[in-house]
Amino acid sequence: MIEALPEWGVPAEQVLAELRELRTADLPTHGGRLFAYVYDPAVPGLDELARAAYALSAHVNGLDPTAFPSLLAMENALVAAAGRLLGGGPGTTAPEVVGSVTSGGTESLILAVKAARDAQPGVANPRLVIPATAHAAFAKAAHYLRVGLDVVPVRELRADPAAMAAAIGPDTVLVVASAPSYAHGVVDPVSDIAAAAAERGVRCHVDACFGGWVLPYLKRLGADLPAFDFAVPGVTSISVDLHKYAYAPKGVSVLLHRDAALRMPQFFAYADWPGYTMINPVISSTRSGGPIAAALATLRHLGDDGYLRLAEQTRDAVRILGDAVRATDGVRLFAPPETSVVCLAAEPEVDLFVLADELAARGWHTQPQLAYGNLPATMHLTVTAAVAATATDFGPDLAAAVAATGARGPVVLPPELLGAAIALTPEQVTPDLIEGLAAGLGLADGGAGPMAAVNSLLNVAPPALREALLAGFLSLLQRPSWGER
Ligand SMILES: Cc1ncc(COP(=O)(O)O)c(C=O)c1O
Repeated sequence: MIEALPEWGVPAEQVLAELRELRTADLPTHGGRLFAYVYDPAVPGLDELARAAYALSAHVNGLDPTAFPSLLAMENALVAAAGRLLGGGPGTTAPEVVGSVTSGGTESLILAVKAARDAQPGVANPRLVIPATAHAAFAKAAHYLRVGLDVVPVRELRADPAAMAAAIGPDTVLVVASAPSYAHGVVDPVSDIAAAAAERGVRCHVDACFGGWVLPYLKRLGADLPAFDFAVPGVTSISVDLHKYAYAPKGVSVLLHRDAALRMPQFFAYADWPGYTMINPVISSTRSGGPIAAALATLRHLGDDGYLRLAEQTRDAVRILGDAVRATDGVRLFAPPETSVVCLAAEPEVDLFVLADELAARGWHTQPQLAYGNLPATMHLTVTAAVAATATDFGPDLAAAVAATGARGPVVLPPELLGAAIALTPEQVTPDLIEGLAAGLGLADGGAGPMAAVNSLLNVAPPALREALLAGFLSLLQRPSWGER
């Protein structure tokens, strides 16, 4: 246990040594073997640069851009770069693009929904139309903002424009497309969706949080991908995360609007109290300049040419991984690997969750995705440039992992656990029940050991029960240990 407030202060070197020791328990953020959570360009010196830039501005406060013009200049520069990359700026059909720097994709999406909602004060019960493959952050936005959510079934993993158009009603304030979707890495038919929204006078947001910084470069390299940016008429806003394929340290995304009038309802202003008048473009009020400075340093150091090279490496790694999946009996590509994701499914004789554990045991950390609707469980691999160096090692390990999975056989859950997972209602999930389950599954100390049993259990539970179980488990993890004193 680490004590955050010791009686006597601890020397700096010791504190750092302790932090390094804590970090040894984490998955590897570098090295091209972790296919979720992290984005690694493997560019020598980039981490050091970003860290130094972060430190320079860590104590600068984005609360008031007139007090810290350095931050304003950096934010405007990031927005201009993102706008240009995504089809806006001088000489384009979207010359007036503006934007805000947020803390991440979820914040950008919440703000896109807020702007759309508040632009229509006359709509008493505003609604949001999303394809079923849109990121879960839209559900969070709808929940936080009390906006109704219309989830439209997809066709072959992509949004269905006709069904999306049919779902637009008088209360719809925003229609969404993904470029690409996170789970499968495929791009929605943005032009048709945006046209349907524009025809009804409704805003259309393109969620390019995940791929917005790599798709333009993949296109330049010749990838055959649909138009998805401001060049598409009817697209009113786009989000792109710099802490994903722009390879900036965590905490930076950009939300772009086609013009300043569209952005206006995103802002929150409040003067009706005795303190300073609060004008916030984003959800946070006080904001560290650290992530923004680090992002700016990253972009300037890599440059357009650097991102093109990194996209090329990513594309090559995707091809190698995709070929490895095609060449391995027992698994198959579940989605076309057209961007930076490899998504695979397992044949019935291979337990996908055991396979994930077997790959982890060989040093490859993938992201299992639970069965949903008529989609089977799949395995997600976010591929970044660092994977170019490791990709050729994946095929042999995948084959070995599949063989080991076959030898181990599928997870067999005790019938009482299986019965509970199907029959429990979310309301029945109490802290005691969670503690019992965690102990039964060997998760009592929160370690991410073999996860096949947990995933198998969640896989048979309906979504509402999955939510309750995982929320309960998180609550179990997030408890202070009080120590001796
Ligand atoms: C398509 C898409 N949108 C939004 C998000 C949410 O981003 P964040 O985790 O930065 O909040 C993600 C995250 O993976 C994503 O892939």
